[in-house]
Amino acid sequence: MQPSNTGPGRLNAAGFTWQGDDVFGRIAHRYDRLCDLFSLGIHRLWKRRVARAIAREPWTVLLDGATGTGDIILRLLPDVSGQPRRIVASDISPRMLAIAERRLAQHREVVELRQLDLEHMPEVASASVDAYSISLGLKICDRRLALQEAWRVLRPGGRLIVLEASDIPWAPLQGLYLGYMAVCMPLLGWLATGGDASAYRYLLQGIRAFPSAPQLAQELQEFGFEAVTFERLSLGVVAIHTARKPGR
Ligand SMILES: C[S@@+](CC[C@H](N)C(=O)[O-])C[C@H]1O[C@@H](n2cnc3c(N)ncnc32)[C@H](O)[C@@H]1O
Repeated sequence: MQPSNTGPGRLNAAGFTWQGDDVFGRIAHRYDRLCDLFSLGIHRLWKRRVARAIAREPWTVLLDGATGTGDIILRLLPDVSGQPRRIVASDISPRMLAIAERRLAQHREVVELRQLDLEHMPEVASASVDAYSISLGLKICDRRLALQEAWRVLRPGGRLIVLEASDIPWAPLQGLYLGYMAVCMPLLGWLATGGDASAYRYLLQGIRAFPSAPQLAQELQEFGFEAVTFERLSLGVVAIHTARKPGR
């Protein structure tokens, strides 16, 4: 499958568009605490692992899409300190970005915050970044458009790093996990947000509809990426995929 133009929303596993509903803006001030609550703190481990995976790749300029409150970048910075690096941390939601801006305020010489729609980033020149990362964001946007933009902005040889919900290969356990999520996520989301569980309904839908780790790896290969690898974390609840755009 080559990168191609498709209609918006085609591969949005979560079934919503930010244009229609800035759900993350509404929960921005509670987002990090909610991540702790839903994952029982395990998202911290996933984020440390993906930060290390990003740090291992060769890059000078990194674009992080759907950066949210800047959690991944905060974990990445110690690993790349003292090195000539430039990080563009981007998100569509001004309220999520405002929190990222506050948290990353001491690192302005390395990190630039930008409001970007990762499905359409005319502000970012083609072949201008060495690495593109996206964590827990691919399932809530149009995947094909997002990957198409990642491909465009990456220079030849550039690296893609994706942390995303995945599948537990043992079906009974996956069933139990989805059952837990179906009951707990909207309920806790509703309680913790004072009655607004919409973000968590979207996330749950996104988790259910997102491809398995091998399927996503195949999709990346069909897209044109090479050296595609994936690592499952927490039995497969999430996976980290890495890939390279062909070229020098
Ligand atoms: C689940 S949060 C993940 C945040 C962060 N990467 C993390 O791991 O904590 C998803 C983020 O994607 C952002 N987002 C959703 N659609 C987007 C789009 N089209 N372009 C850029 N960001 C988007 C949301 O505003 C939200 O901050």
